[in-house]
Amino acid sequence: MGPQKQTAIAPPLTRRKAWKKLQTHFKKIRETHLRTLFAEDAQRGQSMTAEGAGLFLDYSKNRVTPETVKLLIQLADECGLRPRIDAMFRGDKINITEKRAVLHVALRAPRGALILVDGEDVVPQVHAVLDRMADFSHRVRSGAWTGYTGKPIRNLINVGIGGSDLGPVMAHEALKHYSERKLTCRFVSNVDGTDFAEAVQDLDPAETLFIISSKTFTTLETMTNAHTAREWLLAGMGGDERAVARHFVAVSTNAGEVGKFGIDTANMFGFWDWVGGRYSMDSAIGLSTMLAIGEDYFREMLAGFHEMDEHFCSAPFEQNLPVLMGLLAVWYGNFFNASTIAVLPYEQYLKRFPAYLQQLTMESNGKSVTLDGMCVDYSTGAIYWGEPGTNGQHSFYQLIHQGTRLIPCDFIAFGAALNPLGRHHDMLLANVFAQSEALAFGKTPEQVEAEGTPDWLVPHRVFEGNRPSNTILADRLTPAALGRLVALYEHSVFTQGTIWGINSFDQWGVELGKALAQRIIPELESPSEPALGHDSSTNNLIRRYRAIKA
Ligand code: F6P
Repeated sequence: MGPQKQTAIAPPLTRRKAWKKLQTHFKKIRETHLRTLFAEDAQRGQSMTAEGAGLFLDYSKNRVTPETVKLLIQLADECGLRPRIDAMFRGDKINITEKRAVLHVALRAPRGALILVDGEDVVPQVHAVLDRMADFSHRVRSGAWTGYTGKPIRNLINVGIGGSDLGPVMAHEALKHYSERKLTCRFVSNVDGTDFAEAVQDLDPAETLFIISSKTFTTLETMTNAHTAREWLLAGMGGDERAVARHFVAVSTNAGEVGKFGIDTANMFGFWDWVGGRYSMDSAIGLSTMLAIGEDYFREMLAGFHEMDEHFCSAPFEQNLPVLMGLLAVWYGNFFNASTIAVLPYEQYLKRFPAYLQQLTMESNGKSVTLDGMCVDYSTGAIYWGEPGTNGQHSFYQLIHQGTRLIPCDFIAFGAALNPLGRHHDMLLANVFAQSEALAFGKTPEQVEAEGTPDWLVPHRVFEGNRPSNTILADRLTPAALGRLVALYEHSVFTQGTIWGINSFDQWGVELGKALAQRIIPELESPSEPALGHDSSTNNLIRRYRAIKA
């Protein structure tokens, strides 16, 4: 890495040339129907596609013309997307509010790559941790690592929250097909005691390993659950403190706190401050994933991430999947005023993918000041949400099809089923293709009338169409495909954040609630009536809770 260059601060987004051109262009095409766009260009379904790192993106069913794409790319250029990408991959401290590099891409860099942070190559450190994780997971999976009483480990519980939970949970579900079914894998995140109680209710402590995953090792929820786990284990082990070392490992950047908790730092798997929590599922935070699927599949997943990193770095923007998806998100959010994006995986194993994406996208881009501290005068991060298909079709799709709000959708599907059962997969894929077709083209009043629908019913049965969507298609959900998919969204988030000129890598917005909770805890626990200095609503709620508790 060369000297730490700070990327130039952008002039206000809404005064950029490309922005203004996009505004004019938007007025021209805002009413244009996808039916017209497809009728005017018979090749649209082929030309508005891009392929990279094993993923195929069909973005033809978006309310864009080639001119829109050209202008969006011009905007990306004016916002310095290319130098920003280079700065991130180079290890520059682009997370300016925390003075940190942003190097989740180093987590999947191959052995021998060179990425410098403060003059030090971080790639060997990454691989040293991966090798230790691999060694540990071999020992647990083979039964060589036993619990304190000598029983093999059959149950894993990852205790973590946010980025120390959502990635592992999502990956556990996504890669279940590849996992060792003899190991029961559970996740405890919520400080609500029910989460812990339900996770352990049928488990034998002598066969249970806790992975305490916390970047900071100070997070209230995780530390509360970790202490409860310790008590539960000791209660099952006759109070013998020596059992802790065999049943607890830690994943953290904070060796001091890990030691204070009583976990031997020899059983700690580290990562670094340049890995954001929501970008950490491929770091040691993925230990539960590696334990479940084994070293080889985990490394395949990393290789998939890396393929997408390479694509993001090198593909021209016109063919660059994360760039195109990021720019489309900007187009809908800032020009069509769409406030949400639905992510709809037609793959049951991806059922937690939308929940995972919520932290990735919304904690990253839920910002309202620019890198130079100015309030933005445009919308930033969209609300991401979704459910796996086809379940969503029988729930909220009605609103997407006929409601008054524009909701761009990302459909995700795979050519091959992991559990091929009769005609299931053809039906699944028929549904995903049908949904994007119905959303785009709808059904006109003439078509509805031609079906013999009585006049009074026609308006109810008309589908306006012109609802945009992307379709992401891959061959099969493999560990590598999952890595590619996650990296696709990581870089799309980065693209969006770059256009908006915000810092996608801090999360100051979660701090206030945390601090206030710390103040309220003693007020709830105090044996005597505390003097309360909150607003009248909060004071009243605290008093009512104390009364119920009493
Ligand atoms: O919710 C805020 C946050 O800081 C997330 O960014 C992070 O993923 C989560 O808390 C958990 O933090 P930690 O891994 O330090 O326990």
